[in-house]
Amino acid sequence: MVEFDKVYDRRNTNCAKWDSIKDTYGEDGLLPLWVADMDFKANKPVLDALKKTIDQGILGYSPAPDSLYQAIQSWQQRHHDYSISKEAILFNSGVVPSLALAVQAFTQPGEAVLIHDPVYPPFAKVVEQNNRKLVRSTLDVADGHFVMNLDDMEKQILNENIRLFILCNPHNPGGRVWTAAELEAVGKLCAKYDVLVVSDEIHQDLIFAPHQFTTFANVHSSFKDFSITLTAATKTFNLAGIKNSMVFIENSELRKKFVTIQQQNAQDEINIFGYVGTEAAYEHGDDWLKELLAYLKENIDTVADFLKHELPQVKMMRPEGTYLIWLDFSAFDLSDAKLQKQLVHKGKVVLNAGITFGPHGSQHMRLNVACPKETLLEGLRRIKYAFE
Ligand SMILES: Cc1ncc(COP(=O)(O)O)c(C=O)c1O
Repeated sequence: MVEFDKVYDRRNTNCAKWDSIKDTYGEDGLLPLWVADMDFKANKPVLDALKKTIDQGILGYSPAPDSLYQAIQSWQQRHHDYSISKEAILFNSGVVPSLALAVQAFTQPGEAVLIHDPVYPPFAKVVEQNNRKLVRSTLDVADGHFVMNLDDMEKQILNENIRLFILCNPHNPGGRVWTAAELEAVGKLCAKYDVLVVSDEIHQDLIFAPHQFTTFANVHSSFKDFSITLTAATKTFNLAGIKNSMVFIENSELRKKFVTIQQQNAQDEINIFGYVGTEAAYEHGDDWLKELLAYLKENIDTVADFLKHELPQVKMMRPEGTYLIWLDFSAFDLSDAKLQKQLVHKGKVVLNAGITFGPHGSQHMRLNVACPKETLLEGLRRIKYAFE
């Protein structure tokens, strides 16, 4: 049994989630339920593999070993029914750095890139910081969850001459696990207008039954020709600090372009812990992941139950995947600044402000439930108190 219930004191460990909020908000004693890392210890075999590397005592340059490629291929096959050849696997220090490289590799300055609204904030940032034109297509809400508006996407693609679409699969912050049918529809739309798809699949393993994750490139035999896939073991196994991620590019022309930009930026080497941690996570992670998902599901149920009975004004979007919950605070009719202020300075609890995910994130907040139940309940009590 993994001790997901155990509360660890992460303060004063130079940890972004716990230690940076005092500087940001100027207060002590805030409870962080924001940035997407978990308050759980990593799986023991991963920690053992990292320790073994340290015990070698010499930490020189280190290429990706064959055994790492095999661990990735086996994980993708076992968990996602996705066969990927070794030559199609590239490494980079993170999914966000890969997003930036993809924008540079596949578009020219001034060209338009499409993203959804709301979506993970670095999508907008990498587009704008690379001087491309940012275009958003707002997600609709149907039956309490996000759906893509294909008519709007088509309009944007045509009007703005979109060259690249960044897909968040599964979706952060909404927790949608796009179905194969939804992916097929959006893929066909992109194929029709020659739009390249960058599919960010970092949350691909955090899926709650009966929902099923589908790799975009695997939806149809032609989809690998006009898409690239970004993923990592770091989100699933709580290893964000080891900085490693994978880029799967089956189309050799696209791969050549990506590798060229990677080399121009000298971004084709990963630190030794990234390789070692990723391999150990995929080799020994099946049971740990099963237990994690069961624990996260209980936490999501806890939030649903709490809100229903204690704070019914706040509506939650029940996630089909990820450990993130999109909360709707519009019933309080507060400005985004006031909403954040009330949660932080009255409730003493830090969530991610919905407005940072795009204009349609206004009056929403993103809650991270990857923490011991005790911490989560304390956070929920603080959220409630913020509005008393
Ligand atoms: C959709 C998405 N992509 C990428 C990342 C971060 O990836 P990395 O740490 O590998 O840059 C996150 C982290 O929360 C995320 O939610």
